[in-house]
Amino acid sequence: MSTPWSYRYAQRTQRVKSSAIRELLKLTQNPEVISLAGGLPAPEVFPTQKFREACEKVLKDHGPEALQYSSTEGYLPLREIIAQNTARYGILAQPENVLITSGSQQALDLIGKLLINRGDRLLVEAPTYLGALQAFTVYGADYVSVAVDQDGLCTDLLEEALRSGPKFMYVLPNFQNPGGVTLAEGRRHQLVLLADKYGIPIIEDDPYGQLRYEGEHLPPLVAVDRENLRRDNGYTLGNVIYLSTFSKTLAPGLRLAWIVAPAEVIRKLVQLKQGADLHTATFNQMVAYEVAKDGYLDEHVKLIRQVYRERRDAMLQALAEFFPPEVAWTHPQGGLFLWVTLPVGMDCHELLKAAVAENVAFVPGDAFYVTDDLEARRHFRLNFSYSKPDVIREGIRRLAIAVRQQMEALHFASARA
Ligand SMILES: Cc1ncc(COP(=O)(O)O)c(C=O)c1O
Repeated sequence: MSTPWSYRYAQRTQRVKSSAIRELLKLTQNPEVISLAGGLPAPEVFPTQKFREACEKVLKDHGPEALQYSSTEGYLPLREIIAQNTARYGILAQPENVLITSGSQQALDLIGKLLINRGDRLLVEAPTYLGALQAFTVYGADYVSVAVDQDGLCTDLLEEALRSGPKFMYVLPNFQNPGGVTLAEGRRHQLVLLADKYGIPIIEDDPYGQLRYEGEHLPPLVAVDRENLRRDNGYTLGNVIYLSTFSKTLAPGLRLAWIVAPAEVIRKLVQLKQGADLHTATFNQMVAYEVAKDGYLDEHVKLIRQVYRERRDAMLQALAEFFPPEVAWTHPQGGLFLWVTLPVGMDCHELLKAAVAENVAFVPGDAFYVTDDLEARRHFRLNFSYSKPDVIREGIRRLAIAVRQQMEALHFASARA
């Protein structure tokens, strides 16, 4: 409905739609519904006691500083700790390369503000993180997408898309949201070399990299870029902007994340962040530093890995047990999500209606694509971090009932099994 207000909204708001995920979460607030839809960390693993102690210490030792305005770049000891931690993964950043943001979501918004002119084309994965599309679309972005398979972004399909001159590539190399897949090492090298060849920068979004439950850690694109192209001169010449967050390793309510980029890019982002929120909450940064320091964060991440591995395995086991053989799913080596593919002819929106009737919910796959492709409606995303293993098992059992009903309606033979 048009109201006097809707005529006043700026043009940039016209393509902004309410998030399918948020709308859906509203639907599933009914306690009867098992929601495998959201992307929430398990509340049981929040280190509440540690936070209580850290809050007290910060207020006791640095009260006035913690409650005061502070620098836009972020709390220096926290940036130092981030620089030290990321060095373990070959990301050799100095504090001047690190900007603290209010969540990675703000980082995506600031990058949009920095790089996107109306009509600029961005190269994204198909499927990709919905929140990034929301952040970039406001700035007038258009998209070209490249398929993802079991080994992440299909780099063999990349060159044609790169020739269309995208402004940047947005890539999720580890346990992709929503696909749960990881970019293979060989493809990381190809991607970085192609990006360099065509002069297209990479935005590497890595919220889940530390949450690996099996296999070896793979080098981040930002490190491959430096090593392959012998950019040993710090980050002055690097072609990758790297993002990560404390949302999945400490607590999302902190709204604390960071960008690693060449110092020149950080300086420009700082100017933009000033206009957005002056700086990220001083108190939160100081508390997070207090919690993370002296190896506590590393120990805590080990605990999270253990809990989430068990939940992932519970979901994989239940899928194998209850789902018909025509349905396929990914086997994520880490992260929070797995991705289900329905047989040709099935529609995830129809399935969602049937699933909600069975009191279970997921996110329909087409929310994560930039094109209105019917193929996208064969997929959906499941989250395994939030619910306990027995709840996951029950959720998958209910979902399997809905899947079989839909298959029967479409006359698939094995649905009656
Ligand atoms: C790929 C990806 N990027 C960014 C974010 C936003 O994270 P934050 O809580 O740091 O804003 C998420 C959150 O789920 C995500 O999955």
